[in-house]
Amino acid sequence: MIDSRWYDGREQALVKHTFLDTYMPAQIPKVVSPASGADTFCYVDLFAGPWQSQSGDYSDTGFGIALHRMSQAKAKQAELGRSVRMVAHLVEKDPRNFTELTVAVKRFADVEVHCYQGTAEQHAAAIAAAIPSRAFRFVVIDPKGVPDVRHFQRLIEAERTEVLLNFMFQFANRFAGSQDRMPTLEGWLGGLQGGNEWRAEFAELRGTEREAAISERARQVLGRMGSYPYAPAITVDETDVDRPLYKLIYLTRHPAGLKVFRDAHRRALETQSEYRTAKKADLRRHTTGMDDMFAPLTKMEPGERSAREMAEGEAKARKMLLQRVTDNPAGIEWNSLWPAILDACVVTHAGLGDIARDLWSRGQVVVPEWQSKAIKRPKDEFRFNLSAEPQSTVR
Ligand SMILES: C[S@@+](CC[C@H](N)C(=O)[O-])C[C@H]1O[C@@H](n2cnc3c(N)ncnc32)[C@H](O)[C@@H]1O
Repeated sequence: MIDSRWYDGREQALVKHTFLDTYMPAQIPKVVSPASGADTFCYVDLFAGPWQSQSGDYSDTGFGIALHRMSQAKAKQAELGRSVRMVAHLVEKDPRNFTELTVAVKRFADVEVHCYQGTAEQHAAAIAAAIPSRAFRFVVIDPKGVPDVRHFQRLIEAERTEVLLNFMFQFANRFAGSQDRMPTLEGWLGGLQGGNEWRAEFAELRGTEREAAISERARQVLGRMGSYPYAPAITVDETDVDRPLYKLIYLTRHPAGLKVFRDAHRRALETQSEYRTAKKADLRRHTTGMDDMFAPLTKMEPGERSAREMAEGEAKARKMLLQRVTDNPAGIEWNSLWPAILDACVVTHAGLGDIARDLWSRGQVVVPEWQSKAIKRPKDEFRFNLSAEPQSTVR
């Protein structure tokens, strides 16, 4: 269980760890199910740490959370009569951190752990080659700076893989607005066709437009490294300033992965919104010397960036859903609709289902198979058509 008190002064890590801690218990049973054919779950952490851990038992480190969740999942699978091998490959460059890591992982006897001292760049290809093809791989790339991700190609491109990459947006943004060279970033961010004009394009953009363009490019390039159709991202903000610090870009080839991702994303954004709301209230208390007057009425202020991102995500999803139905006059099935919308918009599968229900209730879309109000959300085979005449009556 993550305790926010371990994260004072490094709240961004709380968002990242909340995501991991929510995502992995939902992900593991899906990817090692009998249907998937994988009998081994493999966690690869290329920049493992430990890094600024306060908890005393590594519950506030990425590898600590991952190995704990893997141990739990292994026990659950055993209760179901399945034997699943849990394997971790952890890389750490700093000698002191590495020594601490090798001692820390002894706490997790149910996971077969391999620790590598040296750089991620140096070890990535050998780790990729060592993992059996029947294993499912979850690759976490969480550097402090911006490495050249092309070194990790072998890990990213493998089948049965999902990736979570911490993209240091703040560095990329600063670089895009300057004449500086940053070969480790230029190399892979420039990896799409179209020469180098992207830098000039970015330099002309400002604020959220530039943020969207840089993130979009990073998502596209990373997705292409392993033919991933889905590459959504989580925005992690600076604690005291309304500015993005980094983006956690997630790569998956399966719509089911998107569902799990967006649920964990929402939990991470709620955490971010709550601590930022509390921090702002604290700051106001200090500067005004007044206690209650400006206290937030809720744990999440609706105007806070992450809270806004969630609300805007739902609005964008509604628009995109209607647009897709409009673009398909012969009708379109729900399972052809929702994955692209979840990829593009900050919305959960359940949230999007509620939006679809609302559009259906209002008569804005027609869904012949949706015969009863008792069906709360659309089923995959439901076919959506645009209503000839949008109505405002609510069913
Ligand atoms: C941001 S911290 C990792 C935090 C960790 N993922 C977590 O969530 O708890 C980055 C770590 O990578 C290590 N490191 C830096 N450059 C590296 C490299 N090229 N290869 C491997 N490790 C590196 C640092 O010593 C540090 O421990």
